[in-house]
Amino acid sequence: MTTALVTGASSGIGAVYARRLAARGHNLVLVARATDRLNTLAEELGDAHGVAIEVITADLTNHQQLEPVLQRLQSDPPVDILVNNAGAALSGDFASADPVEMDKLVRLNVVVPTLLASAAIRGMVERGNGAIVNIASVLALVPEYSPGIYAATKSYLLTLSQSLATEVTSKGVHVQAVLPAATRTEIYERAGGDISKVPNVMEVEDLVDAALIGFDRREVVTIPPVPDVAAWQSFEQARGILAAGFSNSQPAERYRG
Ligand SMILES: NC(=O)c1ccc[n+]([C@@H]2O[C@H](COP(=O)([O-])OP(=O)(O)OC[C@H]3O[C@@H](n4cnc5c(N)ncnc54)[C@H](OP(=O)(O)O)[C@@H]3O)[C@@H](O)[C@H]2O)c1
Repeated sequence: MTTALVTGASSGIGAVYARRLAARGHNLVLVARATDRLNTLAEELGDAHGVAIEVITADLTNHQQLEPVLQRLQSDPPVDILVNNAGAALSGDFASADPVEMDKLVRLNVVVPTLLASAAIRGMVERGNGAIVNIASVLALVPEYSPGIYAATKSYLLTLSQSLATEVTSKGVHVQAVLPAATRTEIYERAGGDISKVPNVMEVEDLVDAALIGFDRREVVTIPPVPDVAAWQSFEQARGILAAGFSNSQPAERYRG
């Protein structure tokens, strides 16, 4: 039996991942701060699907509380799927952001998933299988739509996923970045926003079910709302055309004095 560790499993996208992965027969390790919510979900899913469920209560931005999660990723029974989902948003623009809040957000959205992936990856490579799912955001590709640092944290996760996939796919480890657009969860209210003002919100079950279809197809990047995959393919093609110009020892003509 395989085991999946889901961070931020107490609500929203992470809770639906937990539900779907339990229904697929995976044992689970559920991580978040809200112990009561995690325990309720664990009991429900254990009863419904007969899978074993561990709960780790942790504020992942706290070094001491992160440690047991890192240790779990390096112990037995092995974690076969890591879903790096816990995350938050920060409202307001960069100029008025509180540096303490920014520090916390970078830790939660950037440093924590990096350290968790790092703890998980060695065993996965040794076993020749495993998967890391990073929940990024479409804002990684359109940062102009989002003031402040949230989009930048998500763009880091997309880039990390792409470079990690290049490193470990041939070693049997699947890395997937999921880029949701607006999805109906608590994230807006938690950041002091109002989801009723957001147009075209996707239901969280639809988002996760689509992401899991992309997972089963071993996609590296899954963007559930994009209707035509050709749009993503031409974006990637444009990146390739740009990259072809990177291997020049001289600056381009337009930059010569
Ligand atoms: N909803 C959207 O529109 C949208 C769009 C693009 C990307 N995303 C991404 O999707 C992911 C999940 O967010 P969501 O939309 O499902 O929001 P959500 O309902 O607010 O869920 C966030 C989860 O992260 C956990 N979490 C927050 N801070 C934590 C901390 N310090 N330590 C441990 N766990 C923490 C929360 O649990 P506790 O409070 O119990 O700790 C909760 O389980 C995030 O990475 C978010 O950036 C969401």
